[in-house]
Amino acid sequence: MYWVLQLLEEKMRDNLLFGPPGSGKGTQSPIIKDEYCLCHLATGDMLRAAVAAKTPLGVKAKEAMDKGELVSDDLVVGIIDEAMKKPSCQKGFILDGFPRTVVQAQKLDEMLQKQGVKVDKVLNFAIDDAILEERITGRWIHPSSGRTYHTKFSPPKVLGVDDVTGEPLIQRKDDTAAVLKSRLEAFHKQTEPVIDYYSKKGLVANLHAEKPPKEVTVEVEKVLS
Ligand code: AP5
Repeated sequence: MYWVLQLLEEKMRDNLLFGPPGSGKGTQSPIIKDEYCLCHLATGDMLRAAVAAKTPLGVKAKEAMDKGELVSDDLVVGIIDEAMKKPSCQKGFILDGFPRTVVQAQKLDEMLQKQGVKVDKVLNFAIDDAILEERITGRWIHPSSGRTYHTKFSPPKVLGVDDVTGEPLIQRKDDTAAVLKSRLEAFHKQTEPVIDYYSKKGLVANLHAEKPPKEVTVEVEKVLS
């Protein structure tokens, strides 16, 4: 562990998590965040918080999110630009679910250039679409902590209840088979080109995201070590 800390003192680590809905980005993020002391910025979580609080941003984002479409580039670039300035992000960050279009990737490069840093690694959670419906429709979330459960793959001790706080778990409004279809369409059409963008820069590491969570964690750790 010592060498990891030493590395962090020398250099910021900026990693992107990339993959379709349900591929495991949100499951692996807390592990990476804790192990490498990075901040975790998930545009989906930030947008859902804005929708719940009915902020002007949330009102604009809600319709697209409910339909499984992408929110406009300007809105998400704005929230990431703001969030990256937080003191907790000064040692580096994990971007989860951003960038999702080539325009967002180009804007991210511009933002990072201003800070004199670059993307280190893009972790591509590669997985077949056929596996994702079961993962998405079985997901339960503890909203305030972001802890994620699955009825089959990672069940809570008591059905519908968070293991740590005893508070109720919820299902996301867009976690239905019908909305997943639109989310996957958006992923293949608008987000997959982002992988080509980073492949050309030699930054992409492909993970076997269909494996059990602990095996995926081992792959993530190998890539980041
Ligand atoms: P967002 O919240 O980012 O959703 P997503 O990308 O669709 O990703 P998910 O959170 O559904 O999946 P995940 O990979 O995190 O899966 P998880 O680890 O939870 O975006 C939502 C919406 O916001 C978008 O549709 C869009 O409208 C908008 N948006 C967000 N960012 C945007 C942007 N940059 N630009 C424009 N619009 C944007 O795993 C899923 C389930 O599977 C869990 O139950 C988990 O327990 C289980 N599981 C995880 N790993 C495994 C495993 N290895 N084996 C078995 N089960 C597993």
